[in-house]
Amino acid sequence: MQQLLATLVSSHDLHAKWLNSLSFLENAGARKISASEDSYMVSYLQLKHAAEEHRHAYYLKKQLRKLPVPFPDSYKKEFLIAPISTQQYLKKLDVICARYLKEKLSFQGNELRYAAYLLVTYAIELGADGLYPIYQDILDANKSKIMVKSIIVEEQGHLEEMISQLNSYFQDWKTHACEIVKIEKTLFDEWIGSIKKEVAYHE
Ligand SMILES: [Fe+2]
Ligand SMILES: [Fe+2]
Repeated sequence: MQQLLATLVSSHDLHAKWLNSLSFLENAGARKISASEDSYMVSYLQLKHAAEEHRHAYYLKKQLRKLPVPFPDSYKKEFLIAPISTQQYLKKLDVICARYLKEKLSFQGNELRYAAYLLVTYAIELGADGLYPIYQDILDANKSKIMVKSIIVEEQGHLEEMISQLNSYFQDWKTHACEIVKIEKTLFDEWIGSIKKEVAYHE
């Protein structure tokens, strides 16, 4: 992971695509949170979380503008790194998690939507907590003007918030979370694997 991030940061073109892809994923995550909300029963934590994920998407775009390369303001395939994998990563996780909740717990409707939000987001937060600090270290080592420190702080808060929401919603959430985290890890590794292939091709 360190090696890959160091390679991405060392090329402005790859770095721009990487930042744009992170922004795309943050935005997709934010839109998923908003989509999982009930129109009337929305908690303070859900609002906070959606607002912060939207901010991450915007903030990463703002970081991208610090790079000395022109970059189109678009999430189209040609401006993402490993585009198919980047576009599929969250979608696949959603589909697999929804299937799991239907099959194992017979959840449906609003219940399914909210439980999927909790479990998918929990798994993603774990991943984000691993990824952003390594990325920030590489940025520091390269004396880059780009910074993700404020995202790291908020992502750590999100993980705790997801745990507290899971605790009040599911008794045995850890068993289910463990399954979803395993799936997320596989999808995350697939995503990173695709990026490595693209970087190798670029080199
Ligand atoms: Fe985020
Ligand atoms: Fe988050």
